[in-house]
Amino acid sequence: MEELITVKNLSFSYPDGQQALIDVNLAIYRGESLALIGPNGAGKSTLLLHLNGILRSNGAVSLLGSPIDESNLKWARSRVGLVFQNPDDQLFSPTVFDDVAFGPINMGLSDGQVRQAVTRALGLVGMSGYEKRSPHHLSFGEKKRIALATVLSMSPEILVIDEPTSNLDPRGKWSFIGVLERMAGTKIIVTHDLELVGALCRRVVILDQGRVVADGGTGDILADKRLLAAHGLAPDGADLKLKRRG
Ligand SMILES: Nc1ncnc2c1ncn2[C@@H]1O[C@H](COP(=O)(O)OP(=O)(O)O)[C@@H](O)[C@H]1O
Ligand SMILES: [Mg+2]
Repeated sequence: MEELITVKNLSFSYPDGQQALIDVNLAIYRGESLALIGPNGAGKSTLLLHLNGILRSNGAVSLLGSPIDESNLKWARSRVGLVFQNPDDQLFSPTVFDDVAFGPINMGLSDGQVRQAVTRALGLVGMSGYEKRSPHHLSFGEKKRIALATVLSMSPEILVIDEPTSNLDPRGKWSFIGVLERMAGTKIIVTHDLELVGALCRRVVILDQGRVVADGGTGDILADKRLLAAHGLAPDGADLKLKRRG
């Protein structure tokens, strides 16, 4: 399998000194659907921000064999499509069309190609016909879909998506999982939602306190309740007793 992204000895601290990643090593292969899970504050979002060069730590992350740096940043951002957890961080234009067209225009596509890319992306997320609507006035679930479309319009090689189902009701969640399931290509999904992991991902990486603590097949990892509990991803024995009494 072709290695699309290579993370090598990546350590990262925020300017205030908070260490968020410690010696992370990870290879991501073409066509795989990988879940990145871990408790709050584990460093998941920080790692995602490194995958398309929003955060950079001297050559620790390579895309298709090239270390991501100043010189290839625009290319890296168009190849690795990052969908933020909060759609309001992704949507800033007066119309849905403008938001979804932003990436393709920035890539220098012609008007016709831009329109085609927007139509295709909105179709993929089930939002055809929303071009003239204001992203501001959409429901949360609709915003999540449009945020995904703003990335899909660039036809990225890799889709990286932060907590896609957080704050969605069960119907919204399963319909969004359906959208992701129908999507071909390489996917990296950050989530706490083990149902989503089971439905969409073949491989699971657990991050805790900035370190990769497990990397394996979804079946094995989800069956390992002790591992999940040790990293705050499943109730431990004490929690279970409390629940039963309540
Ligand atoms: N902008 C920031 N400035 C300082 N510390 C941050 C910033 N963003 C995140 N952190 C810290 O980095 C660590 C990892 O955070 P994050 O990557 O957001 O974790 P996760 O996405 O797994 O919840 C946490 O300790 C968090 O408080
Ligand atoms: Mg996060």
